Amino acid sequence: MRFPAQGDGIARRGRHPTDLTFIMKPARHYLQFSDLTRDEYLHLFERSRILKRRHYDGELYRPLVGKVMSMVFEKNSTRTRASFEAGMAQMGGHAMFLDSKSSQLGRGEPIEDTARVLSRMSDIIMIRTFEQALVERLAAFSRAPVINGLTNEYHPCQVLADLFTWVEQRGPISGRTVAWIGDGNNVARTWLQAAKLLGFKFRIASPKGYELTVLDAQDYGPDVYEVCDNPLDAARGADIVTTDVYTSMGFEAEAEARHRAFAGYGVTAAVMAAAKPDAMFMHCLPAHRGEEVDAEVIDGPNSVVWDEAENRMHVQKALVEFLLLGRVADKK
Ligand code: CP
Ligand code: NVA
Repeated sequence: MRFPAQGDGIARRGRHPTDLTFIMKPARHYLQFSDLTRDEYLHLFERSRILKRRHYDGELYRPLVGKVMSMVFEKNSTRTRASFEAGMAQMGGHAMFLDSKSSQLGRGEPIEDTARVLSRMSDIIMIRTFEQALVERLAAFSRAPVINGLTNEYHPCQVLADLFTWVEQRGPISGRTVAWIGDGNNVARTWLQAAKLLGFKFRIASPKGYELTVLDAQDYGPDVYEVCDNPLDAARGADIVTTDVYTSMGFEAEAEARHRAFAGYGVTAAVMAAAKPDAMFMHCLPAHRGEEVDAEVIDGPNSVVWDEAENRMHVQKALVEFLLLGRVADKK
């Protein structure tokens, strides 16, 4: 369910003296991959490339001095927390960590109230949580842009980083084929949105009972979306082969059943051999060697998993820059 943008929800009549929403532009949020246009993604890929090069050159770029990001985590994280925190520091800003254990969220404070409070003292909010609906509610009551740092349904920052990894090393993604082996989960669902928007083919092979369900109202035709019977069919001739853990965060109660169901749905050397010889292997990480991917694949020559992880930081810097400052067009 999408909620209308409402600033921080203060009634228009009898406006409070601190209510500045009437002079503020409504915030632009990043809650699903489909929230940006193709053209905006092309801009983000270019900015990611520039910001990455500047970082490697040791050039300081601090457009966010005095700006604060609130990072709300209701699930664990290594990459998402580290990449946002490092990225904000590099751009001169600050990232503030909150989790549900030590904040009032864990004691039942409504997300709408959390949104109104956090967005009065931070310029941008990143949240990792369970239901997508909660992120939508947060955004509806936030003055500041909200970024989805993973929900049960979507993980847009991950696929943004993965696509940039392809684009920086190989060029445009349009016309290519991405094979997903395993759980039809949040990351897979995000890849499907990306395929539609950026014009590539998404093929998926999942065990019975763990197939991808489409949650948006978009029409994914056969040029974009193909469901395959087995991993070899999905990987055949693919440019990218990718997978994820059997059991995503929040689904731990199903771990045993999933372990049984996912046998035969890992990325092995044989699956990689079905793809193009120079196909990239991608994984959002953390990975379980010997389960969804064999060690010889993830640690092998086709694997780009460390580039993907690093690129989380570069693309998210570009994303935060875009959401806070618009299209920055400065030197290469
Ligand atoms: N890929 C990813 O989001 O990693 P974390 O769970 O470590 O943040
Ligand atoms: N699908 C995984 C991704 C972790 C980054 C999860 O949701 O746990």
